[in-house]
Amino acid sequence: MKTYETLAIDVDPDGVGILTFNRPDKRNAMSPQLHRDMAEALEEIRYDPTVRVLVLTGAGPAFCAGMDLKQFFTELGDKPAEYDKVFRIATEWRGRTLRYFPKPTIAMINGFCFGGAFAIVEGCDLAIAAEDATFGLSEINFGTFPGGAVSKALANLLRPRDALFYGMTGRKFDGKVAADIGFINYAVPAASLRDEVMVVAREIAAKNSHALAATKDGYHHSLDMGWDAAISYANVMQDSLTLRQKGAWQEKGIGDFLKGEFRPGLEANPGLRDG
Ligand code: COA
Repeated sequence: MKTYETLAIDVDPDGVGILTFNRPDKRNAMSPQLHRDMAEALEEIRYDPTVRVLVLTGAGPAFCAGMDLKQFFTELGDKPAEYDKVFRIATEWRGRTLRYFPKPTIAMINGFCFGGAFAIVEGCDLAIAAEDATFGLSEINFGTFPGGAVSKALANLLRPRDALFYGMTGRKFDGKVAADIGFINYAVPAASLRDEVMVVAREIAAKNSHALAATKDGYHHSLDMGWDAAISYANVMQDSLTLRQKGAWQEKGIGDFLKGEFRPGLEANPGLRDG
């Protein structure tokens, strides 16, 4: 895989890609270069058959300290075209690209997670944090509001009372609270974070990749559709899945169950893993 100035990427033999924001000295704040690197890296990983599940994390004590307040807001302040270009890349990769990424994504939140980083967490399918990770909507503390993609991320994921409480107070909260309010799936002691995430990532990597992509698409598109359109879309998607899998869910999935070879309520059929 290509070398990136602000990222480190490793792929393990089970198909789990680990993408690490790699500006620990700046608490992995998202500089214009980090946004450009993310857009390019996600494109590369999208088409890399060795990556079946993608984990996003941060080097050092931070997951990501949000937008780079110096390089993004200050240094691009008087360069409107360049600001617009970086803003569009920044919004796209955390929003549409991650949301509709054809492979499952997991945010592994190891430390500080502020402001613009909430949109990364929201863009990922799953989020698991260290219990002592620190989250905060710090924008109010420097006199602004959760701009760009962040207000929409809050509206999508948080209950109204929590979104406005943390947005208006700027109070920080830890991984346990993040789990209690539903911003992440759950929190574990920092020492076991990586092992825990890898167990989940490997479990998902062993499933059928087309079924995983359909699970994501069915969920995300249904959010924006009325009931009739959602049912119709799901039916079309089922036909498309059958085609892409060459009928595997019917033959190996339901077929093996009917032959008494496995019980899908209790286990996955390993024969359905592809790639
Ligand atoms: N943008 C730009 N630089 C940042 C940054 C950000 N969001 N967050 C941290 N940095 C830089 C600091 O300026 C400092 O740089 P320096 O060494 O050149 O002075 C370096 O990262 C380390 O930061 P420091 O504050 O010394 O580390 P810390 O561990 O004591 O505190 C934070 C970490 C994240 C709590 C603190 O840096 C902070 O509050 N950052 C701003 C977070 C924020 O409001 N993000 C929302 C942006 S939308």
